[in-house]
Amino acid sequence: MLRTRWTIGNWKQNLLRGAAEDLATAVVGDLPEPVAEGGKQVRVGIAPSYVALDAVRPWVRPQGPLFLFAQDVAAQDEGAFTGEVGPAMLSDVGAHGAIVGHSERRIHFGETDATVARKVHVALEAGLRVVLCVGEGLEIREAGQHESHVISQLSAALSQLPAELVSERLIVAYEPVWAIGTGKTATPRDAAAMHHRLRAWLEQHFGPAGADRSILYGGSVKPNNAAALMAAGDVDGFLVGGASLEAEAFLQIVRLVVSAA
Ligand code: PGA
Repeated sequence: MLRTRWTIGNWKQNLLRGAAEDLATAVVGDLPEPVAEGGKQVRVGIAPSYVALDAVRPWVRPQGPLFLFAQDVAAQDEGAFTGEVGPAMLSDVGAHGAIVGHSERRIHFGETDATVARKVHVALEAGLRVVLCVGEGLEIREAGQHESHVISQLSAALSQLPAELVSERLIVAYEPVWAIGTGKTATPRDAAAMHHRLRAWLEQHFGPAGADRSILYGGSVKPNNAAALMAAGDVDGFLVGGASLEAEAFLQIVRLVVSAA
């Protein structure tokens, strides 16, 4: 089975509604054919702020070619949780999924593995797609404990999950924290090794081997390093931060992902 290749732009806390609309227009105006035609094998997503989700709706499926993701989601369905946005609210505004467990949420907002696990469960159960982020800090990498750290994050997020919720709607993003927004990237070899390890864990726990299970890389992905990362094998696309804020840079990355057969 072929794995779906994704390029997802994480716009973070950037862009007012008008600028979000402009960026979505520019991206959609120049998408390579297989994406523009809505093929299953290569997909492109954008993750604007909550308040800009509705503004980009004309460009997202089913009207347009893009998939729409929120940058986070509540850990509960609904209720007295001031400030939170639940999965039904995201579906209602046209979002297809949410990023969960981004390192910026873990580091700046104290999000724990337990919270991440609840969010993954609640979102998948509500029918959303989830981009689950895992990744190690620099000290952990330098101590040689990156694989065990990342696997423990993965296991904490997923091991209590009912197996029937694990499908192609669950996308994993390996994002080494030291590579996010720093201009440093994992070498293609290091990225491939980690992706291989993550895939093996997923197969072991949820089977079957060869399932359509996308594992993305994130951390300073740019047009000049995307091809080498894709070529390393086991990288099924990217979660792109900074470079996703410029239409042309993002589109170049999309083209590289599409052409890396
Ligand atoms: P970056 O961000 O591409 O700016 O490093 C990636 C991310 O945080 O998802």
